[in-house]
Amino acid sequence: MTSLTSSFLPALRSRFKVFLSPHLLRTVREISFSGQEVTTEYTTKPKPRPAPDNPLTFGTVTTDHMFITNWKLGQGWKNPRIVPYQPLQLDPTAKVLHYAIEVFEGMKAYLGDDKELRMFRPMKNMDRLHKSAIRATLPVFDKTELKECLKALLEVDRDWAPDRKECSLYIRPTIIGVDASLGVNVATEALLYTILCPVGSYYGGGSFEAVSLYADEKAVRAWPGGAGSSKLGANYAPTVARQVEAAENGCVQVLWLFGDDHELTEVGTMNIFAFWENQRGEREVITPPLSDIILPGVTRDSVIQLIRSWGDVPVVERTFTMQDVMTAVNENRMLGLFGTGTACVVSPVKDILYRGERIAIPTLERAPVVTKVYKNLTDIHYGRTRAFSEWVELV
Ligand SMILES: Cc1ncc(COP(=O)(O)O)c(C=O)c1O
Repeated sequence: MTSLTSSFLPALRSRFKVFLSPHLLRTVREISFSGQEVTTEYTTKPKPRPAPDNPLTFGTVTTDHMFITNWKLGQGWKNPRIVPYQPLQLDPTAKVLHYAIEVFEGMKAYLGDDKELRMFRPMKNMDRLHKSAIRATLPVFDKTELKECLKALLEVDRDWAPDRKECSLYIRPTIIGVDASLGVNVATEALLYTILCPVGSYYGGGSFEAVSLYADEKAVRAWPGGAGSSKLGANYAPTVARQVEAAENGCVQVLWLFGDDHELTEVGTMNIFAFWENQRGEREVITPPLSDIILPGVTRDSVIQLIRSWGDVPVVERTFTMQDVMTAVNENRMLGLFGTGTACVVSPVKDILYRGERIAIPTLERAPVVTKVYKNLTDIHYGRTRAFSEWVELV
């Protein structure tokens, strides 16, 4: 494979670099990371594109290229590059392999009906990755520069963006501690890399499917003073066993509770919202306030802003408990419950298994707000509306 970093159309050099790859001609914006030029090496062996009937199951298909850069204590970031997708080579003592010194992000780019590729609020993910890196004592980076690198990678693999209803290119920026030492301490070497995965429609292009939740009193996802508000890989490994337990009990997601009064915190890898009539008889959308135990979801923030912009129902950020949910259900005040996240945008809930009992939640019947949120947000993702156009960035 040849490194194709030299421009051959000098007239365009000031703004663009044009590369001739073995299989096509591409234009890449001139970008830097940590003050260094980002180089691009195109694959000479492009992978076959997924067949139209491939469901693009989350994370199973990766594109042809990745972005990667190395960091060393005292030297900073070096050699930012877009290269053919490839395995990483790590020393068996690398910190990430033993102590999960790792942080990541999950974001998407959407190919619109107008064939424009749009990123959704990418700086929110850059801010969160930066904060997560600090929490994990991994090196920080220039957020705008990293966003530009992601755009450059998306440009290179643009033709991997699925041109199918409600599909997208998932973007996974990741930072790992890689120094060869088993000491439990600060990483002195790190890799920042980003891969792309074309992903299918969460709802198969059809209507919503409401899910059953498993509310286990013993399971705690995050705790005060912990790292639950950051996106550390270490937060996720312990949740898998609970997810298995949920499935064994006929549920799709875990409802994460916290404290003696069983506050609702999150659902699976989503933030949680309820829509109900409060005890004063007023309709409201309610979601737990941000804290140590809640991941500040980009979708959560967008849903709050969107619903507030409609002006018909207030959104309150307040703690609520399983007792509040059961009382609202018993008094016929519960209208709906839903999770929000990049993967599915919104996920309606049909019941909660709690203390051996299934509590029915009438989300699909009584909470049209969920469908409206889904439609409005996906319209923004795919450029079908000008509303909140400041939330999208064209690639
Ligand atoms: C624990 C957790 N909560 C909530 C979310 C939703 O966040 P976002 O809306 O940014 O995807 C995620 C997904 O990243 C998550 O892992």
